[in-house]
Amino acid sequence: MSILLRPWAACDLESISRYANNPNIANNLRDTFPHPYTQEDARWFLSYAQRSDPKREWLLAIDLGGTAIGSISATFHRDIRPVSAEIGYWLGEPYWNQGIASTAISQICQRILSQTDVQRIFAEVLVENTASRHALEHCGFQLERVQERSIYKGGQYLDSCTYQLLRQWAESFPDYIIPTRLNSQNPPAL
Ligand SMILES: CC(C)(COP(=O)(O)OP(=O)(O)OC[C@H]1O[C@@H](n2cnc3c(N)ncnc32)[C@H](O)[C@@H]1OP(=O)(O)O)[C@@H](O)C(=O)NCCC(=O)NCCS
Repeated sequence: MSILLRPWAACDLESISRYANNPNIANNLRDTFPHPYTQEDARWFLSYAQRSDPKREWLLAIDLGGTAIGSISATFHRDIRPVSAEIGYWLGEPYWNQGIASTAISQICQRILSQTDVQRIFAEVLVENTASRHALEHCGFQLERVQERSIYKGGQYLDSCTYQLLRQWAESFPDYIIPTRLNSQNPPAL
């Protein structure tokens, strides 16, 4: 299954409204991602994405066969951490567990490493979000730290963890970011 990361377009309104309106997605994201997710939320997001400054963030649709089935982003930390990029992502539930997030993560990491001087890519994940943790691990990310009770969501304190991928790891293994499920080559042991 071949996916493409591309800019958001006005024609994605219907698909983003359909897939984003899902508590199973919102429960794993920051509260800035609303639930319910209305057409108005989708319209606001598309307009924001089209105006966003690529020096500060990349907001990309995960496109399968011309339909936006999810979202992936990179936010560049330029103040006291000029060398870091944080990634975030979600995927429409009908497409889960087919290796698509692993592929999207690997693609955005390859772009970040080839098009910027970012040294460290990281993601913050709820400890219980096994699917996201597995997807990051498939792409060579390593667990950096666990932060207990660092998130307050849905009336509960939750533990989160940070995964990171360093440029030097990637450069030691030129073909490292290849999800195992989608390719016959084994990823290198990082
Ligand atoms: C996280 C998310 C993007 C993963 O997308 P995906 O395309 O299903 O991910 P992949 O198929 O690439 O990889 C998921 C891995 O987790 C595994 N997995 C999924 N659910 C699991 C579970 N409940 N327990 C154990 N493993 C699980 C899958 O088997 C797969 O591992 P494998 O390839 O070794 O079999 C998707 O579940 C999602 O959008 N969730 C809601 C939003 C979210 O959590 N975003 C990330 C915030 S950090």
